Amino acid sequence: MQFPEKGTSREELTSRLNDAVSRDADWRGGKIFSLVYFAGDDVADVLKEAYTTAFYSNGLGPGAFKSLKKFESEVISMTADLLNHPDAAGNMTSGGTESILMAVKTARDWARAEKGIAHPQIVVPVTAHPAFDKAAHYLDVDIVHTPLRDDFRADVDTMRRAITENTVLLAGSAPCYPFGVIDPIEEIAALAAERGILCHVDACPTAIYAGTSSSPSATGPAASTARRRSQVAVPEGRLRRPGPS
Ligand SMILES: Cc1ncc(COP(=O)(O)O)c(C=O)c1O
Repeated sequence: MQFPEKGTSREELTSRLNDAVSRDADWRGGKIFSLVYFAGDDVADVLKEAYTTAFYSNGLGPGAFKSLKKFESEVISMTADLLNHPDAAGNMTSGGTESILMAVKTARDWARAEKGIAHPQIVVPVTAHPAFDKAAHYLDVDIVHTPLRDDFRADVDTMRRAITENTVLLAGSAPCYPFGVIDPIEEIAALAAERGILCHVDACPTAIYAGTSSSPSATGPAASTARRRSQVAVPEGRLRRPGPS
């Protein structure tokens, strides 16, 4: 396609845009799993209005755009409350992929600083989102994919056997993208706590509901340590607490 010699009118641009999106998948019908969560026109109107109001705000300047900082802090704090972990810290990211990148980076940097691990490795079930592979590639971290149990959930025994002295992070999904089942998060977190490494729960697609029911129900000293060393990614934000508090 050649760069156009002449400009295009606003009407023509709008018409072309509307024509193009009219041929996209029908995301209003509720069958575009994980791509669009359409909650109705009334909710969409509120979202559009809020988006337009803050259209020019720049997240790189929280000093100038204090409203963004305030809203981010409030969303993180409310999300932490929902997850029964009110002292958690976090960041809002652009989505699930960036959350996973941040989780792996946090684990890599934490292990480098705290344990002197130069060639970090992460262990994830084979159903973990491809963003873990992207993160491993970008961040120069080795990744080991472990098989599933018969019920398509992570096999924690094989995760245990895959751990080496270079392992910095175990991850589980709640739920996983391929099958929609929730990995045995409490077992994975307890194993991470036992081995003194980090644990990341990828709760990106349905998120908060899975997060509220799985992570806080762990009990006992191991679970308590696991919670302190756990990271969880949810759509609204990302909560993390690397290392003991
Ligand atoms: C389990 C899981 N993790 C991560 C992601 C990546 O999220 P995003 O598409 O927002 O980058 C998805 C996307 O569907 C997902 O289902």
